[in-house]
Amino acid sequence: MSSTLETKRKPRMMSGARTTGHLHIGNYFGAIRNWIKFQDEYECFFGAMDWHGMTTAYKSTEEMQKWNRDIFAEFIAWGLDPQKNVLFIQSQVPEHLELFMIFANLTPMGWLERVPTWKDAEEEAKASDTHNLGRFAYPVLQAADIALYGGMKVPVGQDQVSNIELAREITRRFNHLYKAKLPEPQVILTDSPVVPGLDGRKMSKSYGNTLFMTEEPKVLEKKVKAMPTDPQRARREDAGDPSKCNVFSYHKLFSSTEDLVWVQEGCRSAGIGCGDCKARLLGNINALSEKPREIKKDLLNQPKILDEIIADGNARARKVAQATLLQVRERMKI
Ligand code: TRP
Ligand code: SF4
Repeated sequence: MSSTLETKRKPRMMSGARTTGHLHIGNYFGAIRNWIKFQDEYECFFGAMDWHGMTTAYKSTEEMQKWNRDIFAEFIAWGLDPQKNVLFIQSQVPEHLELFMIFANLTPMGWLERVPTWKDAEEEAKASDTHNLGRFAYPVLQAADIALYGGMKVPVGQDQVSNIELAREITRRFNHLYKAKLPEPQVILTDSPVVPGLDGRKMSKSYGNTLFMTEEPKVLEKKVKAMPTDPQRARREDAGDPSKCNVFSYHKLFSSTEDLVWVQEGCRSAGIGCGDCKARLLGNINALSEKPREIKKDLLNQPKILDEIIADGNARARKVAQATLLQVRERMKI
C-alpha cells in the first residue's frame, strides 16, 4: 500500500441520520448544521440510516423510500455537497449488514445490555412493541457503519457518545482477534442544544409537536402562532417571563443576540406583545429555511435528477464498503 497516498488523504468522517420520517429541527441543530462545517476538512460519508430507522419503524416500511429521498433532498438543500461528500442510503449498501453480522459475533451481549441508550429505552421499547433483537443490536450496526468507511471521526451529540464508545470496543476487539487495523472511531462532540417540541414537551411525532427542517410557510406560521406562551401573560398589559416561555427557547435557537435582548426587555416590561414576539421568531425561522425549502422543493420536483444523485452516492459508498469488506474477509480468512 502506498504510504504517500495514505498521508495525503483527508481523514475520514462518518455520521448519519436515522430514517424515521421527515427530519426535524433537532436534526438540523444537532447534526446537519455541524456536518456542513466539516465537509472541506474531511472526506465525509453521511447516510440516511434506514436499517436503523426500521429497528423501531419496522411496521412502516412502505414509507421508507419516500423518507430516504426526503432526507437526501434535505441534506443537499441545507448545503451538504453531494459531490464533495459521499451521501448514501444505508440499505442500498449491503455491506453494512455483512459487517454487522461479523461484529455481532464478537460483541458480548453484556456490552449491549450496559449501553445507556438500551437500558434507558427498554421500558419504552416494550410498550411500543420494539423490544426486539434489531433494536438491541443497534450499536453493533452503528459500529459497522463507521468501520465500513474507515471513519475516524464521528460528529455526534452527547446522546450518541456511549454508542461510539462501544463502536471503539468492537473495532478494537476485531483488530485484536484478526490482527487487523480498522481505525478506531473518535467522537467529535458537536454542539447539540436541546430542542424541545413546539409545546415545550419532548419533540415527538406522537405528540404532534414537531417542527420539521423545512415547513411550508403557511404551516410554519400556524405552528408558531399556536405555541403556548408564558401563562402569566394572559393580557397584553401583563409583563411576562421569557424563561417560562417556549417561544423564547426557540428564539435562542433561531434569533440574533439583539433579538434576544429585544424579547427579554419587551416581554418583562410588556413593551411587546406575544404576537410581535412570535412574528419576529417566524421571520427568523423563515430567513434560515427559505432557501433550503426552495432547493428541496426543486429537487423533489425533479425525481430523475434526485435519483441519479442518490444512485451516484450509493455507488461511491459501495466502492469503499466493498474494499473494506475484502480486507475484512482476508484478515478473517473467510
Ligand atoms: N444512531 C445515530 C442517531 O440516532 C444515527 C447513526 C446511525 C449514526 N449510524 C451512525 C451516527 C454512524 C454516527 C455514525 O443519531
Ligand atoms: Fe413568550 Fe415572547 Fe410572549 Fe414573552 S413576549 S411570553 S417570550 S411569546
